[in-house]
Amino acid sequence: MITLGEGNTPLLRASRLGDRLGVELWLKWEGANPTGSFKDRGMAVAVSRALERGANGVVCASTGNTAASTAAYAALAGLRAVVVVPRGAVARGKIAQARAVGAELREIDGTFEDAHLEARRLADDEGFVNVNSINPDRIEGQSSAAREILEQLGRVPDVLALPYGGGGNTVAYAQGFGAALPRFLLGEAAQRGETFASAIRISAPVHRQEVARVLERSGGTAVPLTESQLEDAWRRIARDEGVFCEPASAAGIAAVAAAGADGAVVCVLTGNGLKDPDSAERLAA
Ligand code: F0G
Repeated sequence: MITLGEGNTPLLRASRLGDRLGVELWLKWEGANPTGSFKDRGMAVAVSRALERGANGVVCASTGNTAASTAAYAALAGLRAVVVVPRGAVARGKIAQARAVGAELREIDGTFEDAHLEARRLADDEGFVNVNSINPDRIEGQSSAAREILEQLGRVPDVLALPYGGGGNTVAYAQGFGAALPRFLLGEAAQRGETFASAIRISAPVHRQEVARVLERSGGTAVPLTESQLEDAWRRIARDEGVFCEPASAAGIAAVAAAGADGAVVCVLTGNGLKDPDSAERLAA
């Protein structure tokens, strides 16, 4: 098992922000994972299985966090890692992380969707294992977060709020909760292809159909968010609760603020603010 100590992240009781929103609020702080995002849970499983199956290397397309996580776990496994990212559209810390641990960075002139096509081609042509969330090992690993919440809270929350980019994390949480789903409240950028929250700058979610089924089964909804709603939520999390997350992570709280919620609400903060110092400087000014 290739592990960097992922998972077992804190579930923080957020009273001040909860009072403001009129709910019993809990923050699942996934920025506390080894590379600073929730991706590590699934990457530990996906890279371990790729190694077991005799892969030549691993490849992913990414808006940054998957790249940093792939790179770290591949380094530990002694595997080559090729990470394909849209040029100029990835937060600085994430590029630094991937480079530091020796990943081969391919910056393409195109979107995240173009990067996906290139990653799939590399997997087919070079015998690399694709470790994007289309790989079921990733989803299986990420589903551990739902089981942790059940243990930490002692029950199924009434509402689970999280960012919606490609939808892999939504599918993973649904798998982890099993038959008893909380109501899923998904925050997505209204301007999907252009949002400043670069982690979720994704025009065409890969898991759209599965996400629609999760929303239907759980009585949930996806909430489109303006840029200023995302910014306000990011500031509130930082200033009310002292938690410095990256901008995309604020989408769950922004969805609760925009759509409202009742009862015990767990909001997943998916990534660490240290990854995106440029956004932090702009938003904190
Ligand atoms: N939050 C953060 C910090 C992310 O990095 C991502 C996705 C999401 C939320 C959305 O999760 O795609 O499962 O719905 N990041 C991917 C990446 C795309 O390449 O790092 P999702």
